Amino acid sequence: MTVAAILARNLTKDYADAFGIPRIRGLDGLDLEVAPGQVFGLIGPNGSGKTTTIRLLLGLIFPTSGSAEVLGHPPGSVAAKSRIGYLPEETALPRFLTGEEALEFYGRLFDLPRQTRRRRIAALLDMVGMKAPARRQIRTYSKGQARRIGLAQALINDPDLVILDEPTSGMDPAGSREIKDLILRLKEQGKTVLLSSHLLADVEDVCDRLAILERGRVRTMGTVAELLESRDEVTFTARGMDGDGIAEVEAAIRRRGELLSVSRRREKLENLFLRIVGEGRRGGGGAEAGGPGGSSGSVHGSGPAPVEGAGLAPGPGSTPGTASAPETGSRSGTDPG
Ligand SMILES: Nc1ncnc2c1ncn2[C@@H]1O[C@H](COP(=O)(O)OP(=O)(O)OP(=O)(O)O)[C@@H](O)[C@H]1O
Ligand SMILES: [Mg+2]
Repeated sequence: MTVAAILARNLTKDYADAFGIPRIRGLDGLDLEVAPGQVFGLIGPNGSGKTTTIRLLLGLIFPTSGSAEVLGHPPGSVAAKSRIGYLPEETALPRFLTGEEALEFYGRLFDLPRQTRRRRIAALLDMVGMKAPARRQIRTYSKGQARRIGLAQALINDPDLVILDEPTSGMDPAGSREIKDLILRLKEQGKTVLLSSHLLADVEDVCDRLAILERGRVRTMGTVAELLESRDEVTFTARGMDGDGIAEVEAAIRRRGELLSVSRRREKLENLFLRIVGEGRRGGGGAEAGGPGGSSGSVHGSGPAPVEGAGLAPGPGSTPGTASAPETGSRSGTDPG
């Protein structure tokens, strides 16, 4: 039996007020099991218990009741800590060190040999797109840059479990896309990731499972498909259908259920333009090849262009079967001919 990466049973935390009287229930009876290699997302409004969960799992605070295990060890134990990477909600980095020096410092804390440190720091700086600013002091960094160095720091010990508290906070859209790609790459490497976020799209795109917290309680938990897929609406996409074929399918659907819409895929004007202009150019020659989109772009709408930077893997937008929806002209239940 494989050991769960994260296990929590009825985990509860009451915070005390200034007089030591427990008044605020930060987390209320959390049951959670995250299998190794999964990406798990915690979402919820401010004050719903996300950071409390994370801090309990790290052993930074102690539960009022219930229990937890990380990688088969008690939270906060040396065995657990050496295999966890943590990006706190607020990046706390030594401001007067350069990014590179800070990573060097954390690498030493983990007793990494000099050669390993060098190699890993170079790879991490490349991965988070911070090669150039790494020579500057951290106090000069923008919010997003500090976040990136924080992320590199969380990965310095090559952890098996990566815990990220709002990893994309302060990031621009391209930056948060890069973080998402990075999380998917960590997953590819077999690492378990626990992340909290306010950006629902982030969670939807990268998480295998997620929990929605509210006032310390889990309101719902499951795989993204379980929580988001419609149970009774289905979309078919077909090619090579003539009017009769479409009528036949429509009739079949009407016999079994309700036909909600029939639509034809519509090409993007940009694609049409590039296809036509591209063809013309190929004939004439001389013009530069490989312009944006190119003439080879599918008529059927390719996914969003991957964000450049840090040489990261293609993003979730390129998942097969989820190609971005082309614009469609829909009509409800009408004859499409
Ligand atoms: N040290 C503390 N002392 C007292 N109450 C606390 C403490 N830390 C958290 N709380 C309370 O516990 C509840 C959960 O807080 P938590 O920080 O876990 O929320 P969160 O989901 O991370 O919110 P956010 O999205 O704002 O980061 C809140 O009501 C918060 O005020
Ligand atoms: Mg928080």
